[in-house]
Amino acid sequence: MCGIIGYTGSKQVKPIIIDALTTLEYRGYDSAGMAVCNNQKNRTDVYKCAGRVRDLEKKCEFKDIDSTCGIGHTRWATHGGVCDTNAHPHSVGKVTLVHNGIIENYKDLIDEFDLSSALTSETDTEVAAAVLDHFYEKGHDAKKAVKSAVKKLKGTFALVIMFSDIPDVIYSIRNVSPIVATLSEEGAMLASDNTALCRFTDRYFVVPEYTIVELKKDKVTMWDLNDNEITPQYLTMDWEKNSAEKNGYPFYMEKEIMEQPKAIRDTISGRTRAGIPNFEADHIPDSLFTGCERICVVACGTAMHAGLVFQALVKSRLNMHIDVELASEFMYSDPVIDEKTLVIAVSQSGETIDTLEALKYARRKGAKSLSIINVKGSSIARESDYVLYTNAGPEIAVASTKAYTTQLALFYLIVYKMAHIRGVLSDDEIRECIRNLKRVPEVVSSVLDEKNAVHVIARGVLDAKDLFMIGRGLDYSILMEGSLKLKEVSYIHSEAYASGELKHGPIALITDNTPVVALVTQERIMSKELSNIREVRSRGADVALFIKADLIQSSTREFDTFVLPNLPDELMVFPASVALQLLAYYVSSDKGFDVDKPRNLAKVVTVE
Ligand code: G6P
Repeated sequence: MCGIIGYTGSKQVKPIIIDALTTLEYRGYDSAGMAVCNNQKNRTDVYKCAGRVRDLEKKCEFKDIDSTCGIGHTRWATHGGVCDTNAHPHSVGKVTLVHNGIIENYKDLIDEFDLSSALTSETDTEVAAAVLDHFYEKGHDAKKAVKSAVKKLKGTFALVIMFSDIPDVIYSIRNVSPIVATLSEEGAMLASDNTALCRFTDRYFVVPEYTIVELKKDKVTMWDLNDNEITPQYLTMDWEKNSAEKNGYPFYMEKEIMEQPKAIRDTISGRTRAGIPNFEADHIPDSLFTGCERICVVACGTAMHAGLVFQALVKSRLNMHIDVELASEFMYSDPVIDEKTLVIAVSQSGETIDTLEALKYARRKGAKSLSIINVKGSSIARESDYVLYTNAGPEIAVASTKAYTTQLALFYLIVYKMAHIRGVLSDDEIRECIRNLKRVPEVVSSVLDEKNAVHVIARGVLDAKDLFMIGRGLDYSILMEGSLKLKEVSYIHSEAYASGELKHGPIALITDNTPVVALVTQERIMSKELSNIREVRSRGADVALFIKADLIQSSTREFDTFVLPNLPDELMVFPASVALQLLAYYVSSDKGFDVDKPRNLAKVVTVE
């Protein structure tokens, strides 16, 4: 969703903004724009258009933009259609601003400030600019005006503001929607997320909510709404400088799939001691896991699917009550939460607003909280009692891959940790589990080595309109994620089904040549699963079978088969998921789609 960048310093701002907006493209957007400080003419010049960042670049191509201060934005439309006028920045009077979030009371503000005839766009953002301009006109005091304006705004917002008569200075304030900032030798910068900052610096701080930030070329100052100065709390990004680049791959999705052995290794690394899971470096006390009677996972999309695998493990290994809830449904489903509940929020970005709100709700009900997050210092991380970071590095492709498998790696560590401290498994049994978990990166590598074989299977489903993925138990949870991946990037309607449930309805849809992806990795339910596969085969389905090497039988050789390398059944989620990621990737790239930016989707979902 909307991406934001702001820079004031010693360098020309246009290439900085264009570069940063290109980096932020992954968030999902439909329009782009920038505003720059024009010192000669004492004004702010705005360039914006519906379309891609390259369209904005073209628009600016022959303009003489000589400026070292400016703000940029990629818009994901919420209020008002996709058109040049609705694109950000919006200017009213001396105020020019960009915005991420939603001003919920914008209609009331139009009435209160009598703005209806003054507005040119359909956006809530222009209303915020008009309200700010109203207060600025009263005393030409930027800080005071920002303070008065935000007191009027309801909703979520990250506002980044320039005043045409305050050259080379940028202001910002936020509620919920994130803003990170930094000061380096080249100037001061802020952005909606640190992927835009990481090529400039590895130091950044998260702007606290309702704090006014003032960026000058060589100084960043922050105040709370009572005018107390706030000191920035700098964090260090452990992302390598070029980690947000494609490094020779045609798409980020392929690069991120290929990075999984390292990402999983980095996530496990440092979290075991003498072969036993250990979260001391993450400052997580054992009491968090011994004190709870039930677990509730809240998450969206892929992160929720990681939760489903965890659910199966918690039941099989810990015999404990666990719910996995769609974060967007959570608050409205009267969840059973109390102080004996451990709520686990899972999110790659750490900014998904549904997950954030679900977490806040659970905490209000007294639950203890732990989050599994990829982006350091993100909102969900800051809202949780404890955090476990996945060390996956930046994930840029909208379709999540390495974030998912590293979330899984942490979930396995949590289950083994709980099994250890709750006395369910012996030390030796835990060590055996951890030894196997540590084999995962090498096993995933061997799936990646066979990626051409998955590519061949992908060619067989290119023209499919509908596809089924069938499996039982853990395989069904894995397929839910595999099916989401395919849907997201290939636009093929794909449904994951618990094989045993097929005969209760969906088998009516199986006819000649219906593509069916079947997954067989769990020995204890294998024979039942194979019967289900034969049921669809005898109704004409084209079956592509992904099967664990040890489970291959003479009767399974009749299908197009991809053989998954062996791990204990419990861990087969890793090779199986990676193979299904490759399937989705090849279908999308062979169809010529923009794999990394599927239509209508956004990487960071900051609206409910
Ligand atoms: C969006 C993305 C999904 C992602 C989900 C949750 O819908 O398109 O790929 O799984 O958000 O994102 P999070 O950052 O919370 O993991």
